[in-house]
Amino acid sequence: MNKYKSIWSLGLTPDVELIRTSVFVDEQGFAAVGVVFDELESSSLNIVLYENDVPIGTGRLVQENSTDFRIGRVAILSSRRKSGDGARLMSLMEEKAISLGARKILLSAQSHTLGFYKKCGYSIVSDEYVIHGCPHVDMEKDVG
Ligand SMILES: CC(C)(COP(=O)(O)OP(=O)(O)OC[C@H]1O[C@@H](n2cnc3c(N)ncnc32)[C@H](O)[C@@H]1OP(=O)(O)O)[C@@H](O)C(=O)NCCC(=O)NCCS
Repeated sequence: MNKYKSIWSLGLTPDVELIRTSVFVDEQGFAAVGVVFDELESSSLNIVLYENDVPIGTGRLVQENSTDFRIGRVAILSSRRKSGDGARLMSLMEEKAISLGARKILLSAQSHTLGFYKKCGYSIVSDEYVIHGCPHVDMEKDVG
């Protein structure tokens, strides 16, 4: 039987670094320093999702003001995708944000993941733009 747990931490942990590096650096080709890992790390909350004690996914929560929280760095290891774990991770992150007072959650989605975030209840609120060579759109969800 699959057994899930999640652990939150302020700042980076070895498991956050492992998954982010595997997905965003090795798989997607983004630069580690200044892009995948940036100046917000020490003040950000990170979650790691574990299945049967194996780390499979991560994401970052940044508080922008008293009501708006930003989700980012959402990643499920490539071998574990399309099993509902990304949606599970998003729900856990939203619950955490709401517990901290969130009324709105913002994110910048890589355009190829739009369908995923739409299924999680997010709406597009910008035109497409390119950062670090990758098309993105801004998305939001009201949670308050
Ligand atoms: C985006 C990502 C987190 C999704 O994780 P996942 O575990 O595969 O997603 P889930 O299995 O929970 O999918 C939930 C729903 O979204 C859909 N979905 C997942 N990825 C999708 C995609 N890229 N495009 C369209 N729909 C997608 C699933 O089919 C599923 O739909 P269903 O409920 O009708 O079955 C994962 O693909 C990933 O880590 N990608 C690489 C990193 C990345 O690009 N992160 C986003 C940065 S903005």
